[in-house]
Amino acid sequence: MDFEPYIVRVNQYLRTCLPSQGSLTEAMHYSVLSGGKRFRSILTYAVANSFQTDLNLADSSACAVELIHAYSLIHDDLPAMDDDDMRHNQPTCHKRFGEAHAILTGDGLQTLAFSVLANDNNLSTQVRIALLQALTHAAFEMAEGQSIDLSVVSKAVDVDVLKNMHEKKTGALISCCVKLGVLICACDANDSQILGRFAKDIGLAYQIQDDVLDVLAPENVLGKKQNSDADKDKPTYPALIGMDKAKKTYQQLYERASAQIGQLSVNAYELHQLTQRLQSRQF
Ligand code: IPE
Ligand code: IPE
Ligand code: MG
Ligand code: MG
Ligand code: MG
Repeated sequence: MDFEPYIVRVNQYLRTCLPSQGSLTEAMHYSVLSGGKRFRSILTYAVANSFQTDLNLADSSACAVELIHAYSLIHDDLPAMDDDDMRHNQPTCHKRFGEAHAILTGDGLQTLAFSVLANDNNLSTQVRIALLQALTHAAFEMAEGQSIDLSVVSKAVDVDVLKNMHEKKTGALISCCVKLGVLICACDANDSQILGRFAKDIGLAYQIQDDVLDVLAPENVLGKKQNSDADKDKPTYPALIGMDKAKKTYQQLYERASAQIGQLSVNAYELHQLTQRLQSRQF
């Protein structure tokens, strides 16, 4: 399964949404168009496509989740947060443009995400409001998760605290990617619940795997610093339960997620393929 057409599609749409003039333009383009796996937007498209929805209706959602994600990474890398110098194999936004500008670039990307949804004339007002409700909820959860992340540095926490933090800081936006797809294609309540459980599992799995890759993958593969978590004394799954168990935990979550979408009323081939691709990702 080739997800490249979705990547091309969201990149095209992002280019049309990003401002072409103004003092934040260069930094916004630098941070949004520098790379990234585009997994979140692929997920939204894949859900919409599973229900044979016109993908033109999914473009604004795909774009909005990538904008929120890009904003979250800029702020996550700031000295006040993870203090990281490299992202997508290039200097982080604050390294390239300065801290104040990086904060404002993140602010700009977040509001742009909401405006892209609010202004999508292909969608009914009712759908637009529902999409905005889901995205604002997820962005708030993410900020809360990031605040928990900072509050537990150098602390001994149990795995439930870590799970809750991961579900908020990363899982919430991933769940939202699925939810936006669900809202656009207006699938029935049963399919919506199945997809909700699927999203929750892959959202948690994704961040546990990120913790694992932080230890195992070299910088030139990750595009960001290796061992950033250990250097900052962050509690992570591998640090808390050990590498083998951490790997097993995320593998099992992906497997359960895959089994769940087998119950959908539509063909879930694409979502299966995507889950498999995630499970074996190296960065
Ligand atoms: C990194 O996300 C931060 C997390 C929430 C785990 P991604 O691995 O999806 O970032 P991209 O692919 O570089 O955009
Ligand atoms: C990031 O988690 C979660 C966000 C909401 C951005 P990390 O801090 O582990 O992400 P990376 O490893 O810097 O990409
Ligand atoms: Mg972080
Ligand atoms: Mg980080
Ligand atoms: Mg990480």
